[in-house]
Amino acid sequence: MTLRGLRVLLTSGPTREPLDPVRYLTNASSGAMGFALAAEARRRGAKVTVVCGPVSLPAPKGVTVVPVVTALQMRRETLRRSRGAAVVIGAAAVADWRPARFSTRKLKRGAGRASLTLTPNPDIIKDAAARRLPGQVFVGFALETHRAAAYARRKLVRKGLDLVVANGPATLASGRIRATLVSRDGLKRLATAPKPRVARAILDEVSRLLERRARRAD
Ligand code: CTP
Repeated sequence: MTLRGLRVLLTSGPTREPLDPVRYLTNASSGAMGFALAAEARRRGAKVTVVCGPVSLPAPKGVTVVPVVTALQMRRETLRRSRGAAVVIGAAAVADWRPARFSTRKLKRGAGRASLTLTPNPDIIKDAAARRLPGQVFVGFALETHRAAAYARRKLVRKGLDLVVANGPATLASGRIRATLVSRDGLKRLATAPKPRVARAILDEVSRLLERRARRAD
């Protein structure tokens, strides 16, 4: 099924969780996979919006970017747009925690140990999928260091997704990705490949899922 005219919404990049005006928690996501998916969806005729954390890569042409910093901002901007999208893809590496307190003044060094209290961030793709409308397709990623397929399968069920792209930590800093696609139909292991090629395989799978939804709705 073509994506022509359909709205595709993506989250991409890391989030940044401030501790004080000059310090924050974040991770090594470059946003490359999200932008590769956005570019490919656009090429296939979709209207693409990317809710994007702080990245240094340029956004693909023809794609609407909604810049955000924190997970809470990313959640708000994603949920605001998810009902209008045929496909929602969570490609962001959302920080799982944020500092429990934000200090408006720079924290002073002091002589002894310091510790941080962290509060869990909400799960954005799970919250979006919980508001699912008929026919929508929800995709997540699963970054795993071991037992990738089994954990990805668990995330598929726990987060109410249609497809999970399992991959390893080597993906974060690399232009290539070794991915396994996990859906309710089973597993598809992809060869290690540049992110744009894997984006094509992911969107082929998304098209298949959309097609099946459309047939069921007839
Ligand atoms: N995700 C999200 N909001 C979060 C955390 C994750 O939307 N607060 C999304 C990611 O964009 C990705 C998927 O959930 O699509 C899985 O992210 P991952 O970091 O692999 O898993 P977690 O749910 O954080 O679980 P864990 O860290 O325990 O493996």
